[in-house]
Amino acid sequence: MHHAIDVMISQQQIEARVNALAAQINHDYQHAGSGLMLVCLLKGSFIFLADLCRQIYLPHQVEFMTVSSYGANTKSSGQVHIIQDLLANIKNRHVIIVEDIIDTGHTLSYIKNLLEQRQPASLEICTLIDKPSRREIEVAVKYIGFSIRDQFIVGYGLDYNQFYRHLPYIGIVRFEAE
Ligand code: IMP
Ligand code: MG
Repeated sequence: MHHAIDVMISQQQIEARVNALAAQINHDYQHAGSGLMLVCLLKGSFIFLADLCRQIYLPHQVEFMTVSSYGANTKSSGQVHIIQDLLANIKNRHVIIVEDIIDTGHTLSYIKNLLEQRQPASLEICTLIDKPSRREIEVAVKYIGFSIRDQFIVGYGLDYNQFYRHLPYIGIVRFEAE
């Protein structure tokens, strides 16, 4: 797997923005006691979650859930599959879903409805990237790192065909060589 990748959001820009999101969460949940729980949607959010949670100084727990990805495609199928459900009970917890990117909105809309049925005390979404022009379903997202136009991006957890997750920056794949 080798493509030319242009840097879109640098490591320094990501770090500053993630720290600002954590500061907002520290402020908003200061009265949540020990009820705060971050739910990381795998695999794409693992790096974002790791950086974000280390800047949250409130007591909190981290849980994981694996949902379907695009496979080898760069277009959303609109179908959401739970590959591995949460192992924790979220009833009466203050839950923040941590996601890498919201595109059509199908994934987060489905997951938000599913988790809502389990009666958390509160439920919000924190996404690193938003592609608002691609939205097919309205989803309320409280915390957004960066809003971008419709481009396929990789790095900082985001993949193309399971590659490029390790890049410390977010980049745009140049597909013209294929
Ligand atoms: P949605 O259901 O269309 O909102 O898609 C959300 C999921 O699609 C994300 O969690 C990503 O896994 C994947 N995705 C959407 N856009 C991109 C992208 O530009 N690069 C890599 N993955 C993406
Ligand atoms: Mg994802």
